[in-house]
Amino acid sequence: MTRRRRSPIAAAALAFSLAPGICRAASSVLGAEGLQAQQIERAWWLFLAVCALVYLIVLAGLAYALLHRRRRAMHGPALPIELHRESRTDLALAAWVGGTVLLLAVLTAASYATDARLVHLEGVGAGHAKSVDVEVTAQQWWWQVRYLDSDPSRTFITGNEIHIPIGLPVTLTLRSPDVIHSFWAPDLNGKQDVIPGRDNMMTIQVDEPGVYRGQCAEYCGIQHAHMVFLVVAEEPEAFEAWRAAQLAPAAEPKTDEERQGHDVFLSSACTMCHGIRGTQAAGRLAPDLTHLASRGTIAAGVLPYSRGSLAAWIADPQTIKPGNHMPNVTLSPGDLQSLLAYLDSLK
Ligand code: CUA
Repeated sequence: MTRRRRSPIAAAALAFSLAPGICRAASSVLGAEGLQAQQIERAWWLFLAVCALVYLIVLAGLAYALLHRRRRAMHGPALPIELHRESRTDLALAAWVGGTVLLLAVLTAASYATDARLVHLEGVGAGHAKSVDVEVTAQQWWWQVRYLDSDPSRTFITGNEIHIPIGLPVTLTLRSPDVIHSFWAPDLNGKQDVIPGRDNMMTIQVDEPGVYRGQCAEYCGIQHAHMVFLVVAEEPEAFEAWRAAQLAPAAEPKTDEERQGHDVFLSSACTMCHGIRGTQAAGRLAPDLTHLASRGTIAAGVLPYSRGSLAAWIADPQTIKPGNHMPNVTLSPGDLQSLLAYLDSLK
């Protein structure tokens, strides 16, 4: 598939999203990369063109009426309304109403056609033998990502990062345990509400490798704006390598500092909420940390992953993301350093 050129608006949106401090991945509905989002973008441009045309016609009509009125005022009092002029006005009104109805019909048809194409693409995803099944659970305020497999030993959990192979339809099952969220990766597909007690499905497909930023798009509490996820689309071999690495249990601590950090983790309150596969920590309330150091961000996109941001996050999560469910954990400086060494070894 050839790479399409981004429009100037899309380029500006991309430049904004790449500004320092904002998540590095791009996010724009214009110049979309996902097959589904491309359908929506096409409809968007048609709506913009039709609305812009109508706007220009209205402005031209307004300018004509204003100039015409001034000319009449300058050339003396208006003449009594003539019959042929009245019939011309009737004709213009009828044409205007007819044109409006026609354009609304065109937009309605375009909207239905886009929906039909999206439904067709969903069907392609569901019936595809090689498709990847991912269950995304929206939590307050992060995303739990579970890769499903008919073989339970090949099922694993990660957080805030969805890896997908390019060129394949990937089915996402979206669920929420408590409040309503909305799953939205603008480059890939439209918004989909995530509703407690109901599984919603979404299919995404990308043909170009890249990192696409997604965001919760339905107000869901104090940290709604900090509920970011990344979709990492990669070549099938790279995806399989990633999946194999994620399936492995956590790396064993190698240095004394890492071993001490491992003990600090297992003897602290961390294990109440976080899980690390291969250890006794099996908490499910917070993101799984088995391969924490392989992720691009922490705290659902608030900070880029680094040992420094991890230190800041553990030391004071409530200042970085006020209201989130991670309590302040009191650790001595030595314990914090060894804990950081251990967590940073979980590649
Ligand atoms: Cu989740 Cu807004």
